[in-house]
Formats: sequence, C-alpha cells, structure tokens
Amino acid sequence: MGRVVGHLLVLWVAAGVCYATVRASAWSVSNFLVTGPKAYLTYTTSVALGAQAGMEECRFQFAWERWNCPEHAFQSSTHNRLRGATRESSFIHAIRSAGVVYVITKNCSMGDFENCGCDGSKNGKAGGRGWIWGGCSHNVEFGEKISRLFVDSLEKGKDARALMNLHNSRAGRLAVRASMKRTCKCHGISGSCSIQTCWLQLAHFREMGDYLKAKYDRAQKIELDKRQLSAGNRAEGRWAPTEAFLPSAEAELVFLEDSPDYCTRNASLGIQGTEGRECLQSERGAPRRQQRSCGRLCTECGLQVEERSTEAVSSCGCSFKWCCTVRCDQCRRVVSRYYCTRPEGGVRPRGRGKGRAR
Ligand SMILES: *[C@@H]1O[C@H](CO)[C@@H](O)[C@H](O)[C@H]1NC(C)=O
Ligand SMILES: *[C@@H]1O[C@H](CO)[C@@H](O)[C@H](O)[C@H]1NC(C)=O
Repeated sequence: MGRVVGHLLVLWVAAGVCYATVRASAWSVSNFLVTGPKAYLTYTTSVALGAQAGMEECRFQFAWERWNCPEHAFQSSTHNRLRGATRESSFIHAIRSAGVVYVITKNCSMGDFENCGCDGSKNGKAGGRGWIWGGCSHNVEFGEKISRLFVDSLEKGKDARALMNLHNSRAGRLAVRASMKRTCKCHGISGSCSIQTCWLQLAHFREMGDYLKAKYDRAQKIELDKRQLSAGNRAEGRWAPTEAFLPSAEAELVFLEDSPDYCTRNASLGIQGTEGRECLQSERGAPRRQQRSCGRLCTECGLQVEERSTEAVSSCGCSFKWCCTVRCDQCRRVVSRYYCTRPEGGVRPRGRGKGRAR
C-alpha cells in the first residue's frame, strides 16, 4: 500500500514538473530529478522554476554583451565534462542558485509548503529606534537550505572546478539575502507612527540580477597551477574551499580560466560569435547594459555597424465604438535597427551572411 502511494506521488510530481517547465528547461528538471534528494521531491517544481528564473535573468542581463547567456551554457555547466571555469560560468552558477532560493522563499511565505512559513523568530524584539520586528519576514533560510540541497548536489567532484561552482552558488544565495529590504508599518494614535513594526522582504528578482552582474564585472580570478587544474579529482582533499577560495571573498564571484573574446564563432566551444547580432545605438540615459553595445559587439570585434530600415506597423488613432468595440488605424513608421556585419573584403573568407555578391 505504502509503495503504491509512493509511486503515485512521484508520478504526480513528475507531471507537475513537465507542465511547469515546458518552456526550454527540461535540462534542469532532469538534472534535479536525478540528483535531488528523494525526500525533497515536493520542491522539485519550484526548484526548476527558480533555475528557469535565473536563466531568464541571465539572458536579460547579458542581452547586449558578446556572450549573451546562450541556453546551452546552462546545460554544459553541469554534466558536460568540457564545462568552462570562466567568469561567465561563475555568473551562471550564482544566478541559478539565487533563483532557487528566491522561488522557494516566496513559496514558503505564501504558505505553498506545509512545513515552512514566515520567519517570525525575531517578532516582538526591538529592531532599532522606534521599531520592533513583526509581521511576515520572508524565510530566506529555508530557501537557502533547499537551494543547497539541490544545486550543490550537482557537484560530484572535489576538484577545483567543483569548488569554484560551489563557491559561486553560495555567493548567489548570499545575494538574495543581501538584497532583502525592510518594510515597515506605522502604528500609534491616528497614524502618529510612534512605533513601527518591520519585517524583511525579498526584493524584485531583477535586483539580484543587477547585483550579481556587478559582481561578475569585478569577479576575481583564482590563480591555479595548470597541473592542479587538469589533475581533476586526483586533487581530492587538497582543495578545502576555505583554502582555495579566499573566505574573505565569500560573496564575490570567482573563476579559474580566462574567457575567450566571444567575437568569433567557434562551434566546438559553443561560441556563436557576434556577426549578425543586433546592437543598440542608444541615446544618453539608456540603461547601462545597453550603452556602447554597437562598439562592444561590432567594431571591437572587427565588424561594422550596418543600419537597416524596417517598417513598423502599430495601432494608432483608436476610438471606442458603442458598444463594445475599439477601432484603430494602422500607422506605419520607419525604424532603424543596427546589426554587426562583416565589412566587404573582410579578413574572413566570403561565403556566409546575407547580401554577398553572386
Ligand atoms: C511556487 O511559486 C511559483 C510562482 O512563484 C508557482 O508557480 C509555484 O506553483 C509555487 N509552488 C508551489 C508548490 O505552490
Ligand atoms: C576553436 O577553439 C579551439 C580551442 O581553443 C581551437 O583549437 C580551434 O582552432 C578553434 N576553432 C576555430 C574555427 O577558431
């Protein structure tokens, strides 16, 4: 009897997982399903959703960079033996781990799981001048625990790469904690606010993306002896995390290998190159991640910026007709878009790309 119930549970969870992650991330689901501790199947869907949130944030943060967080980067970060130990890989591990903490913590505070809820451990205690702890603080500790269980269990090895991944996953978890915000409510006679109760809330996930992107920009390279890096598991026991990765830098991202420039396509390394990519000729005041994207993607890679005009059609002059329709005109306007293209007679042999002479 017990066995039958067990099977049903597994099937049900598996069906939920498929449903929740139809879009693009079967990889993470299968990884977590095989590696995640059996007792924690309840969390599998949320863990996969968290990993997916991390991937989407990565794509957003790197949309206008040469390396634009291709989906396969998330795959190869786990089971592929050729996985990199670059700065980019450090970001992937951190944001994925942060995503898991984030979704699980939210779930927890929403009462989605039976065995966890708000963190009320400090409620009633004085927090500072004029305020006490109260209300529903997000239970980030529980999110961290589940993230450790699932994400860290992907690292089987004890080599420098595995330790790097563990370190960066931990830094991702710390990022969630670091961006939590105090939210307060006033009490006292008719809103005098003489006393406030406050609780800690998760920030928007975008803030964790911004925070970790800044960490990525100043990630630290750990210098390793080449022999030690290639020795793989044989280095077992010699790489206590505290030894290899500065404990003072626990919130920093670390990497072991320099990145390629990502300009030129190299299929065997999974690098697409920037030829054909769109860039933005952004105005002043554009978000930082968009600024100078044509320089980064095109000119610094030996490509030129090509302007292409396209006609954009949109609805305009809409009016409301009684009752109940909206009539609109179609307005056309010319918009310029910019792409990286190879200059005529470029270094590369001709034969690819549009518009070549026939
Ligand atoms: C956890 O939250 C996500 C949305 O943030 C939701 O889609 C998912 O169903 C929740 N998980 C559970 C077990 O309720
Ligand atoms: C791709 O990268 C590998 C490893 O660095 C290198 O040996 C190979 O020549 C590169 N291929 C191309 C087409 O650049």
